[in-house]
Amino acid sequence: MKQLFIPEMLTPLFYTPLYQTLSDEERLSYNQLHGQYFLEQTIFFEQLMGKPALRQLIRIAPDKALADEARDFIDEEDTHTSWFRELLRDVQPRVYQHRDFHLLKMPWLAKTIMALTARTIRWMPCLIWLQLIAEERALYFGRCYLRVADQLDPRFIAVQKKHLADEPSHIRRDELFLHWLWPRCSARIRKINASILHWLLREFFYFPKRSGWRVVSIWLESQPHLLARRNEFFAAMNSLEKNQTFIHSLYPKKHLRRTLALSASWPELDFFQTFFTDEPVWMLISPSPKNATFASHRPSWSRCCHCYGAHRLFMRGCWFPWVSDTA
Ligand SMILES: [Fe+2]
Ligand SMILES: [Fe+2]
Repeated sequence: MKQLFIPEMLTPLFYTPLYQTLSDEERLSYNQLHGQYFLEQTIFFEQLMGKPALRQLIRIAPDKALADEARDFIDEEDTHTSWFRELLRDVQPRVYQHRDFHLLKMPWLAKTIMALTARTIRWMPCLIWLQLIAEERALYFGRCYLRVADQLDPRFIAVQKKHLADEPSHIRRDELFLHWLWPRCSARIRKINASILHWLLREFFYFPKRSGWRVVSIWLESQPHLLARRNEFFAAMNSLEKNQTFIHSLYPKKHLRRTLALSASWPELDFFQTFFTDEPVWMLISPSPKNATFASHRPSWSRCCHCYGAHRLFMRGCWFPWVSDTA
């Protein structure tokens, strides 16, 4: 298969048995669309979610130092967005010439909640928790790109490398803002914030719903010979809610350490302990096959479990070639 645009492990269909039935060309076209969607998501986080809250933080900051941190934060995110925007226009000039979002559609309810929350950030610092989680996940996703760098389009790798270098300072700033705002809220307000945060995470940042489905839908339109299987694909997407491997790939505790450490003193945020998960066993090994794609080396999870009866044997029997590749 030609170079990918996003690691296959970050694309939902990869976790379904259906993926194994696709040809290399079909996988590649899905992968490209999802790679674009991933860039759109990052622009969304930086511009529509983060920036309005940061602007409000500048207005209400108790001192110049904290206001400057928010100002620098905005400048850096603007720079990042310009990289992602440029890359999207490079890959699909006609689609992205005059817009940032083609695949990502934000429901009005989410837009309203984001806008209101940003304006009242002093009382609604849950948005900063959401941002901290997003920054930690950006690092996690960036590392996933680097793990399979030899499979990916160099333009996508270059942009992720640059992004990886800047994101740790954003995590530090999110922590600063939370240290300031969270303890200032009463226990009742913190509890309300925690409930809103939990709901936002589950509704908009968990299983593929609106935009995740839209990606599959638009991809299927570009593959007329697959349109007859449309229901099959949507059933597969629905099945992800019960797919433990997929679920464990979303919020691995190992990559959300700063969020977990900061929330440890706040019992209202205990839900992180169950919402975040252990990393999937297979991700503990750094896969970097040299001459083939991730999927073509990987037998389906369920098939392996049936074959060998245990993940331990699954690891030895099926992943050994990858282990030796990376050793
Ligand atoms: Fe960024
Ligand atoms: Fe950031």
